[in-house]
Amino acid sequence: MRDVAQHAGVSISTVSHVVNNSRAVSSEARSRVLAAMKALGYKPNALAQNLRRQQTFSIGMIVPDSANPFFAEVARGIEDTSFEQNHSVILCNTDGDVDKQAAHTDLLIKNQVAGILFVAAGISTELVEDLQARQVPLVVVDREVPDVAVDTVLTNHRQGGCQATQHLIDLGHRRIACVSGGSDLSPSAERLTGYQMKLQESGIPFDETLVVKGDFQYASGYRAARQLLSLAEPPTAVFACNDLMAVGVISAATEMGLRVPEELSVVGFDDVRLASFTNPPLTTIAQPKYDIGVIATKMLLARARNLAAPPRVEQLETELIIRGSTAPLS
Ligand code: RIB
Repeated sequence: MRDVAQHAGVSISTVSHVVNNSRAVSSEARSRVLAAMKALGYKPNALAQNLRRQQTFSIGMIVPDSANPFFAEVARGIEDTSFEQNHSVILCNTDGDVDKQAAHTDLLIKNQVAGILFVAAGISTELVEDLQARQVPLVVVDREVPDVAVDTVLTNHRQGGCQATQHLIDLGHRRIACVSGGSDLSPSAERLTGYQMKLQESGIPFDETLVVKGDFQYASGYRAARQLLSLAEPPTAVFACNDLMAVGVISAATEMGLRVPEELSVVGFDDVRLASFTNPPLTTIAQPKYDIGVIATKMLLARARNLAAPPRVEQLETELIIRGSTAPLS
């Protein structure tokens, strides 16, 4: 900056005002500074500029597992919307670990992000309260954080559990199993509640041996199916609380010689792009993944502009998508 000032015959502060557009400068002086910058190949230090402005043009996104296509498709909505708003996205994986979640949060704050989009790794009430106290703009995505008023975007997970179970009941199934996600995660708990509600409404007794806990990964669905299909009275249908576990269920059933859907109906949850290409194509509960990302990003940037506004909760609808992995009870 000093060399530019000398080359242009102006003060260093004049160069700084031109670079940061922080004060009016005569057109003659501005022209001289810009010519000197070009002649010397001077590039302003973006990080220093951002520090002076006390803002950056990046958004933090914390998810449990970006390899899960659900989060990848939500991230696409976030990244497209952020780019439109002249922001980039810093993606952080927690692997469902609350300590890693806290470490990522600290790093994002050090990076002075404009705000954080946050899919909770587990019970995260204290972390959210801390971020609010530090006036970090924040939107909770997909998984409610209990006992704290905070901007939230999610789908009606209980409604989705009801839709999946009712579909199987309508097909005549009575021995309906459920492979749940992590029990401390609200989406899984809500979907399981929807499952139990629909069994009860139809007079189907709840059999706890038909509920197996998974972790939203393929392998846990595979393991759960092998356990369920080894029961003395195996289920004729399985509701898996996400598509990856449903794929694991189909894999295990096929390996055990069962035909899907003729001998076992399978329903998933999320409707990731993969669901259309499984064999057979997966009946599932669709979440508006891209829209979740778009709405959450716009909510976050609004929050960054006005920290004092009252918190908002946007709950989106789920939709039953019937494909080839379910059939009437034979
Ligand atoms: O597939 C990952 C699951 O975790 C999704 O169902 C999503 O709702 C998240 O909770």
